[in-house]
Amino acid sequence: MNRTLRTLAPWIDRGGRPSLLRGAVFLLLWWPALDLARRWAVDDLGARPLAEAIHVAGDWAVRLLVLAVAITPLRHLSGATKLIGVRRMIGLAAAGYTLLHVTLWAGDLGFEFRTMAFEIAVRPYLGLGFAAALGLAAMAATSTDGMVRRLGAERWKRLHRLVHPILILALVHLFLQSKLDLAQGAILTGLAFAGLAVRLHLDRRSGLGWATVAIAAVTAFVFATASEAVWFALKTGRHVGPLLEANFVFAARIAPAWWSAAIAAGTASGAAAFAVRHRRGTAAVAAGSRRSR
Ligand code: HEM
Repeated sequence: MNRTLRTLAPWIDRGGRPSLLRGAVFLLLWWPALDLARRWAVDDLGARPLAEAIHVAGDWAVRLLVLAVAITPLRHLSGATKLIGVRRMIGLAAAGYTLLHVTLWAGDLGFEFRTMAFEIAVRPYLGLGFAAALGLAAMAATSTDGMVRRLGAERWKRLHRLVHPILILALVHLFLQSKLDLAQGAILTGLAFAGLAVRLHLDRRSGLGWATVAIAAVTAFVFATASEAVWFALKTGRHVGPLLEANFVFAARIAPAWWSAAIAAGTASGAAAFAVRHRRGTAAVAAGSRRSR
């Protein structure tokens, strides 16, 4: 199968064989868009359908960006090389949902270029979103095999490391436009930094194994809490003490920091367990898990 056909049929792997993983991920990536279209068709988007659609598309853009960034540490932890095959698909889907998000926003403003430019210039959260969207567009445009060859592997890698600052810009954009509910932003911020911490830890290769799970959980907890606290202090000017204490009061709700830590620990444990089961994670993962058995 030639390269063009493979691009049109993303469920086909590099060896030209159908891949269950790629097929399943491809279908799942379409699901939010199809669900949004269904809700639009049956008039289920509330009083301000366009505003709701902008939010849904933005939510999926940033969730998928966090997932795309998490693939590299997960691959290192699990040893599942097939994960790399879906990283590009997830990253492109994040760019696609961003495009939908921005197009819907532009549609809301009647595609008035001058109004759009003015809004981006005067609202800092839109300025940051715009910078993130430009970065994502550059990454999507250079995601093909041809561009990897043209840029050379090292330059391409350096360019694509920009995904981390782009993700941070997108998260700040999310926080700045949040009015009350910070849960999603805090959970995603925790997960984004947990992925980064695991990656740095694996790069240094100092004591891998189940310690990595603890690093993921603690980092997620700390950054989810910190992001909420910073937002709260800046927005209300009030002391963050009660907000931090609320992390340890479980009567009304389980705080986002715990959800973030649980998702980070669960995902990292799954990856480490996969490595042990299939005996193909990094040698140190296997060694670490052997020690802890
Ligand atoms: C030109 C670029 C962008 C523009 C003009 C834009 C515009 C907007 C607008 C108008 C909102 C809703 C604000 C409100 O209701 O008060 C929003 C929210 C949001 N945007 Fe963007 N955005 C841009 C880029 C991005 C990017 C690159 C991402 C992620 C990759 C993103 C993710 C989000 C998220 C997660 C929300 C919050 C959704 C929610 O609260 O449910 N945006 N954006």
